[in-house]
Amino acid sequence: GEGEPIPHPPESWILGNLREIDPSFATSSFWRLAEIYGPIYSLNLVKRNVIVVSDYNLIKEVCDDTLYEKYVTGVQENVRLLTKNGLFTAYNDEEEWGIAHRTLVPAFGPIHVRKMFPQMIDILSQMVLRWDRFGPEHRISCMEDTTRLAFDIIGLCAFNYRFNAFYGENSPVFAQQMLEVLIETGKRTSRLEWENQLRFLSKKHMTDNVHAMWKVCDEIVADRKAHPRPDLDDMLNIMLNAKDPITGKGLSDENIRYQIVTFLVAGHDTSAGTMNFLWYNLLKQPEALQKCYAEVDAVIGDRPVELDDIPKLKYIEASIKEALRFLGPIPVFNRHAKQTRLLGGKYKVTPRDAIVVNLKGLHHDPSVWGKDCDEFKPERFLNGGWERLPPNAWQPFGTGVRQCIGRYLAIQEIILTMAMILQRFVIEMADPDYQLKIMSTLTIKPEDFYIRARRRPGKD
Ligand code: HEM
Repeated sequence: GEGEPIPHPPESWILGNLREIDPSFATSSFWRLAEIYGPIYSLNLVKRNVIVVSDYNLIKEVCDDTLYEKYVTGVQENVRLLTKNGLFTAYNDEEEWGIAHRTLVPAFGPIHVRKMFPQMIDILSQMVLRWDRFGPEHRISCMEDTTRLAFDIIGLCAFNYRFNAFYGENSPVFAQQMLEVLIETGKRTSRLEWENQLRFLSKKHMTDNVHAMWKVCDEIVADRKAHPRPDLDDMLNIMLNAKDPITGKGLSDENIRYQIVTFLVAGHDTSAGTMNFLWYNLLKQPEALQKCYAEVDAVIGDRPVELDDIPKLKYIEASIKEALRFLGPIPVFNRHAKQTRLLGGKYKVTPRDAIVVNLKGLHHDPSVWGKDCDEFKPERFLNGGWERLPPNAWQPFGTGVRQCIGRYLAIQEIILTMAMILQRFVIEMADPDYQLKIMSTLTIKPEDFYIRARRRPGKD
């Protein structure tokens, strides 16, 4: 059958619904329209048709990999300019995705991630030292320092490469270039094609940045080949030596380049953004913050953090999960139906429709999260709360076979970071009446969010 019509805003001639979208922060427009049109609506964005779904029942269906799959479209498809057939932006039917996925899932699994503990501590110690040296009066840009942290951690853990982001006044050149490329690809997604054609200078600048980043990746690979490190089992060695059990093939040097940029793109902004949302929420909820301090003091006290402490920091882990529920760094992901069907038994969707999963809608659906869904409460994940969640209720890492490969790495990194900071510092907002402002690139994160770090009495 044809099903029921999907609600949608009135269209204008030529521009369709394009004017509904804020080009610098498209997700905010999806949120606004969900308030008006409800849990499902469609938009004609000229270059493509999108359907935004915002409640648990519709999203649960769309997350089912037997009926739907990831759809590389919109801004993600434009990011292919940089990351090509790397894991994040590969089309489902590209052979390289399968080869890399089978090779790298174990490399990003919990057992392997545990072995990255010393490297994580190495980088974290640099941040702690920096905060100590600058002292309690210094305004710390939370985003800048957590970005440095996440960038250095992924570089050291995955390729044994040091960006040394804590040693420079500004963020590493590679990170700056990446930011510029992501901002420009985001803008290009919302512009009409003829307008993109006109902006050839910004296109040239973007292409130059991309080539410079690829060069760094190629140098990392060349250096490892020139100076083999059989003693390491980092991602780089795994990628260089792997033979896929199904196809018998390894990863080409070109594909390894795209995986390296992918890990750097996907692995730093997301973790950093999560830590910022977490700190923002904890500083707004002093009771939750006090429980984090109490847990670190009880489990670790004043001795150095150990690997076995991580699973014991349950309240901190619940706070991270809650921060990711409340508002995480990736606010939407795209799916499409494998075949034309009726979504929710009612709405016709075809494989060409991009179905946007609105995570804010899912994570604040009162039918799943209750009447207090708009409050920040780590407790909801404790005492069996996590186990009681219905399937697909919490999806900050995406869903199915294309869900985030780096989630164990990210969670371990953030727990460790919290432990190291809480053990040593009293954290406060540098601007006590800071109101959350969001900045959007490929991910979203708090903007202009500054903190201060003062040594806890007797903890030095
Ligand atoms: C995929 C979120 C950290 C690497 C994804 C997806 C989401 C996500 C939502 C699915 C995107 C889609 O469906 O289109 C996050 C969050 C993180 C995080 C919230 C931090 C808290 C990391 C880290 C890495 C990473 C540290 C390390 C390299 C990837 C890769 C994919 C991916 C390679 C693509 C997987 C595939 O399609 O096979 N992530 N991510 N992520 N993430 Fe993460």
